Amino acid sequence: MEMLVNTRMHRRNFQKLALALALPAPLALAALSGRSAGIALAQATEPADTPLLAPTPVCGDDDDLAATLPQTAGPFYTPDTPERRSLLEPRMPGTRLVVSGYVYSTKCQPIPGALLDFWQADDAGAYDNQGYRLRGHQFADEDGRFELETIVPGLYPGRTRHIHAIAQAPDQPILITQLYFPDEPANAADSIFNPALVMDIQQAEDGEAAFFTFVLASG
Ligand SMILES: [Fe+2]
Repeated sequence: MEMLVNTRMHRRNFQKLALALALPAPLALAALSGRSAGIALAQATEPADTPLLAPTPVCGDDDDLAATLPQTAGPFYTPDTPERRSLLEPRMPGTRLVVSGYVYSTKCQPIPGALLDFWQADDAGAYDNQGYRLRGHQFADEDGRFELETIVPGLYPGRTRHIHAIAQAPDQPILITQLYFPDEPANAADSIFNPALVMDIQQAEDGEAAFFTFVLASG
């Protein structure tokens, strides 16, 4: 099974992305796909000057992307969340975190309007099961891109650090999954943890920037 890897944007890829952004989507994908097939991108070797841009998947001519793995929803999901890209609230404790990326199909096409619903623990590892604190949904833009502004979730007993997510292409089945953090000591001891769902994390000026690409089975 190919591991999903969401990687830092190498300077060369950044230049290719700048070119691709000026092209229609199919040409943009072609411009970005000059090398390895699948979603794995080059690992950054120059983190100091890595721009904080979500890498787009790179697709070969005949390689499908591997679908994002499903995971348990756990006991703390609340339906009917508010639509919002930022879960931050005044005086909310925690390290600021921006998660950004794309929603793609396994056929390597962006999915505009894909639904994403996020929920997570607060800085102290507690869920709000009465209201909607640190819960919210949004829809990917016309390029399939999303951005979530939140905090790094705290730890709670029995689990490693994670963010819950639902992703759904319009009129398609729901994917329930979880996003993880690299280099977490508790990852190894968490039986639910899966390295294929680890976000790529960079340090940002005022917190952390995470990248992840959701890949949904094509209908
Ligand atoms: Fe959880």
